Amino acid sequence: MRNLQVSIGSLHLKNPIMPASGTFGEEMAKVLDFNQLGALVPKSITKMPRKGNATPRICETVGGMINSIGIQSKGLDYYQKVIVPFYGQFDSPLISSISADSIEEFAEVSEKLAAMKEVAALELNISCPNLKNNGLAFGMDEEITYQLVKAVRGVTDKPLITKLSPNVTSIGTIAQAADKGGSDALTVANTFIAMAIDVHSRKPKIGNGMGGISGPAIKPLIVRMIYQVHQVTGLPIIGCGGVMTGEDAIEMMLAGATAVQVGTASFIQPTAMLTILAEIEEYMEQYGIDTITDIIGKVDIS
Ligand SMILES: Cc1cc2nc3c(=O)[nH]c(=O)nc-3n(C[C@H](O)[C@H](O)[C@H](O)COP(=O)(O)O)c2cc1C
Repeated sequence: MRNLQVSIGSLHLKNPIMPASGTFGEEMAKVLDFNQLGALVPKSITKMPRKGNATPRICETVGGMINSIGIQSKGLDYYQKVIVPFYGQFDSPLISSISADSIEEFAEVSEKLAAMKEVAALELNISCPNLKNNGLAFGMDEEITYQLVKAVRGVTDKPLITKLSPNVTSIGTIAQAADKGGSDALTVANTFIAMAIDVHSRKPKIGNGMGGISGPAIKPLIVRMIYQVHQVTGLPIIGCGGVMTGEDAIEMMLAGATAVQVGTASFIQPTAMLTILAEIEEYMEQYGIDTITDIIGKVDIS
């Protein structure tokens, strides 16, 4: 038996594969055994219900897709009453992803969710706009990232994962700010701001004008960021962006990731995460690796 267990701070996972927030929902339980996943990460929740952005919200690009959903949400009450108990019935730990308009709101929602026994950990989606800073994403500013994480750290002892925005000049600096604020782990990263234009109508292909690009097109950028973050923090990293195969997941782990999230691949094949897990095991078999943690950060740069 190969050992696929990994730890994200005090959170112990049976394997390193989990869904990326916003690309996974309750309906997938019909085609996928949730108990086989390392963790469960539903769509980011906001305090109040939100309608989301204008349509179209998704368009395909070469090697990926652009989305601008705008965190459509039924609000925290519904999430606590319906979504949390649903995910609570599985063995795999629930990581609740949170979006908010202000640092205070992040702390308020985090405190309420962390108090629920079914919620094993929190993931802070700091790519959402900070309404108190001209709508600039929280995660684009080092000081705001630090203040946000510190505020949430002040309301809970549960494992805290900060999901970084890749839309920054120096990902390492933001990673260090989240570390200093008390984050237990980092997800690297959210989508890259992108735009596509229909040359016939001359309109943006996304109702909101711009959106975030995900999928295989961004994987090399994310691998580079994982590597850079791993150089400057000792925090466990969850790699996220463009993982389609077991080899993609292994690549992220060699760069320094402890676990890996899968998003766009699940739109193509809802059972992609299970295939990826099987491919990781095949790789371990091929190279005689008994324990998956042995490969973390083991890229050979010599
Ligand atoms: C349709 C869609 C909705 C998303 N919603 C969220 C979200 O609510 N919160 C979040 O943190 N990330 C969200 N993301 C970003 C993904 O979690 C992930 O960071 C990104 O898709 C890159 O991974 P991938 O290339 O494997 O898809 C969303 C992505 C897509 C495609």
